[in-house]
Amino acid sequence: MSNFAESIKPHAVLIPYPLQGHINPMFKFAKLLHLRGFYITFVNTEYNHKRLLKSKGLNVLDGFTNFSFETIPDGLMPMDVDGDVTQNLHSLRDSVRLNFIHPFRELLGRLYDSATSGLIPPVTCLVSDSFMSFTIQVAEELSLPIVLLYTCSACTFLSGLHFRTLVEKGLIPLKDESYLTNGYLDTKVDGIPGLRNFRLKDLSTFIRTTDPNDLMLEFIIEAVERFHRASAIVINTSDELESDVMNALYSMFPSLYTIGPLASFLNQSPQNQLSSLDSNLWKEDTKCLEWLGSKEMASVVYVNFGSITIMSEEKLLEFAWGLANSKKPFLWIIRPDLVIGGSVVLSSEFVDEISDRGLIVSWCPQEKVLNHPSTGGFLTHCGWNSTTESICAGVPMLCWPFFGDQPTDCRFICNEWEIGMEIDTNVKREEVEKLVNELMVGEKGNKMRKKAMELKKKVEDDTRPGGRSYMNLDKVIKEILLKQN
Ligand code: UDX
Repeated sequence: MSNFAESIKPHAVLIPYPLQGHINPMFKFAKLLHLRGFYITFVNTEYNHKRLLKSKGLNVLDGFTNFSFETIPDGLMPMDVDGDVTQNLHSLRDSVRLNFIHPFRELLGRLYDSATSGLIPPVTCLVSDSFMSFTIQVAEELSLPIVLLYTCSACTFLSGLHFRTLVEKGLIPLKDESYLTNGYLDTKVDGIPGLRNFRLKDLSTFIRTTDPNDLMLEFIIEAVERFHRASAIVINTSDELESDVMNALYSMFPSLYTIGPLASFLNQSPQNQLSSLDSNLWKEDTKCLEWLGSKEMASVVYVNFGSITIMSEEKLLEFAWGLANSKKPFLWIIRPDLVIGGSVVLSSEFVDEISDRGLIVSWCPQEKVLNHPSTGGFLTHCGWNSTTESICAGVPMLCWPFFGDQPTDCRFICNEWEIGMEIDTNVKREEVEKLVNELMVGEKGNKMRKKAMELKKKVEDDTRPGGRSYMNLDKVIKEILLKQN
């Protein structure tokens, strides 16, 4: 390691929530801070770090200047990284709550020792995922400024702030299971300034519980109630995307900043040695980019349900035949753990049917795929990263929200921005076929493509010098992360 005595850089320690959809935006944020002169320590769990090394190659992290990786244990039963699976969300949540604070404190102690020995610059600030709220306590103990990165939409942030009120009003938890299907979820949500015409079903699926002591609800409520203790909160969104919601939030949090979409921010940032490194935990298949190269402009439907979605074999087959029957070329990412109960073998009839126009791989460099000229539409589960990455590429969407914040994102995609259409939860092949055709060659799809391109330009403006997100990042760096205690 180099000796930093000659030039003391600010040193930010960044810790994402240990899931792919949270690691990626935190990694992007780390790259932006690194470009602005910070020494970065990026903290993954041991399991995720092993997966990163497995997907990228053992030496891939060597040789970066002013950027290092550290790990902490996740406190869960050891898992074989060769399984290439996302860890159980509930176990992870409980472990974050109980087991992370001690190893994180210890890590900061080790970094302090290394800095005292002149091996690295002293830690000057923390950046933490907003759902790793134990980090606030550590920052307070060490008198370090702490910025929370909220990786989902501002709308999800706003609705999370009101979960306690929804409980107090008796709207949640649900009285019994029948409330999931008896029309109750169509109830309008009143009294949350910034949300227009929202129904309960447009909020996070975590409210769809009948358990008065639901641990996920409790986890979210506990996290949001600590937000006020952070030095600042940054959200991976832009005022262009969520202006009403942001206006409501600005009045509640004096130190809240939009700094996204991070994908657009980085697309417009200078290149350096880190630019080519991403944080994917699955090994990317890059042959799909060559395959895309053989297809016509905007002709391919890209299908990807992110890192957590799971579905029954029956639903997978509805998607499969809907795509096949649409007769449109498609690139479909089927993760090894996408289908409940293990991997599915698609019939030879299906494989023959799609041989001239379909490609199925297990993971891809998504942003490169979305920005490829041959990609014309995105069938997505509406994770916030996928949503914003699609906007940054100007690609319209078909939405099949699965859980968590995804119904909220779907609502924005289809109703606020009008750049997508929703597929019914109980997916049927005829609907997939019809909507794929509408999106790829129909008049509605064409309008959506134009709107998606307009939105792409708007968010680009927000993230280039002079834009709101760009200025916000400058402000957060100067006024919070570089603030001397
Ligand atoms: C999770 C939640 O499920 C989601 O709702 C929340 O908004 C963020 O955290 P995930 O389901 O994985 O995320 O979806 P998404 O937010 O879209 O993040 C997936 C990330 O993995 C994206 O950055 C995407 O570019 C990347 N990815 C995914 C790839 O690079 N290649 C792939 O093949 C699939």
